[in-house]
Amino acid sequence: MSSSKKRVYIKTFGCQMNVYDSAQMANLLKPAGYDEVASAEEADLVVLNTCHIREKAAEKVYSDLGRLRQIKEARGKNEAPMQIAVAGCVAQAEGAEIKRRAPVVDFVVGPQSYQRLPQMLAGEEETLATDFAVDEKFERLAQKRAQQGPAAFVTVQEGCDKFCAFCVVPYTRGAEHSRTAEEIIAEVRALVRQGVREVTLLGQNVNAWTSSGPDDGNSWGLGELICHLAQIDGLARIRYTTSHPRDMDDRLIAAHGEIDILMPYLHLPVQSGSDRILKAMNRGHDMDDYKRIIAKIRTARPDIALSGDFIVGFPGETDADFEATMQAVRDIGYASAYSFKYSRRPGTPGAKIKDQVPEEVKIDRLAILQDLLVEQQIDFNASLAGRTLPVLFEKHGRNEGQICGRSPYLQSVFVQGPASLIGSIQNVDITGAGRNALSGNLCQEAVSSA
Ligand code: 5AD
Ligand code: SF4
Repeated sequence: MSSSKKRVYIKTFGCQMNVYDSAQMANLLKPAGYDEVASAEEADLVVLNTCHIREKAAEKVYSDLGRLRQIKEARGKNEAPMQIAVAGCVAQAEGAEIKRRAPVVDFVVGPQSYQRLPQMLAGEEETLATDFAVDEKFERLAQKRAQQGPAAFVTVQEGCDKFCAFCVVPYTRGAEHSRTAEEIIAEVRALVRQGVREVTLLGQNVNAWTSSGPDDGNSWGLGELICHLAQIDGLARIRYTTSHPRDMDDRLIAAHGEIDILMPYLHLPVQSGSDRILKAMNRGHDMDDYKRIIAKIRTARPDIALSGDFIVGFPGETDADFEATMQAVRDIGYASAYSFKYSRRPGTPGAKIKDQVPEEVKIDRLAILQDLLVEQQIDFNASLAGRTLPVLFEKHGRNEGQICGRSPYLQSVFVQGPASLIGSIQNVDITGAGRNALSGNLCQEAVSSA
């Protein structure tokens, strides 16, 4: 492979799985001579790692490709030419169609086949790969990882077999696939040796993860995996996302009460508060099931911060269904949440339903729901003022002399403090709380050890 220096710019859209995949692509391209840069203008290779979940996200890719075409065409004869790769879920969903619609694109690689990018660049493989080669992917990626910073993502599971009626994921990411426990434990150990203090286990359906245990051969779920990871010396925090209510088993719930390094934060999307809509969405659970799970988790870990995803305007959603969602949010109480207008995705069952909700109704409902969710988020953050929280410092803050980290509940926390504390966990007296972040002062012992 060529050893001359080249530059790659990777732009990431969408979820944390894509953030992880982008980091893996950067690692993968290093041996081919590519250093990462921060803009397309300086790059020899531009990778758009795309998201297909809602129409807006998918369309954004084409507007970016238009802009990249101008940069590519403006390159002078003496400048290095630009190559463009489209990766991620739009690549998977649209495949060859992308090159037809945007001939400026050189390579198309799906989320389970981007490990072939170096060979494609070297002209050794086809310029389009969208097969589901998950095992091959993790094999080729193994050992290539170079971690920066004290908090790392580790993909443990990919894909989804649930087929919610609105969602493209089962089509773009394929069937549920779990990495083996051995592989994951080895990756986390290696990360901890590189200075990582916190891992977030990732999966589209992370709590559907299952594997046989390395020693006993018994079937493990995510609860067992977390118990084993918690024994790794030097690992201080574990998180996982995103979970499905149907896979929230008692072992995992119990882990929240038993394992103190499992952080008190749970992202558990419910999507709608109406049983009728949950059924139409093919969620496989009703509100009673969801509320029972939440009650159990709160018994195991009373201070857990809950987060969720909501969709308004799924086909057939009436005012009464929407009110049921509002009531569910009032009853449960969320520390943070993501909410979206339903987006009709070609190929999903929801797109075929006749009774689509008008755009204006979706806009109104989303605004009303978001007002409530923001109010709850502000209240939750404010409830932490006056408390002392351990914060894992990850980077410099926006202002001079400021450092920034995460609380156990996943909020960003800003303090004035020395950069030498980045990478460590320090107690912070929380003095300020806004909508998206907390601020405070380092406790005295942190200041003296700095
Ligand atoms: N329209 C709107 N939101 C969607 N999501 C998934 N598919 C759609 C869609 N077609 C949301 C769900 C999911 C989150 C990742 O994105 O809330 O949990
Ligand atoms: Fe999509 Fe539903 Fe699978 Fe989540 S559980 S990825 S929303 S199909």
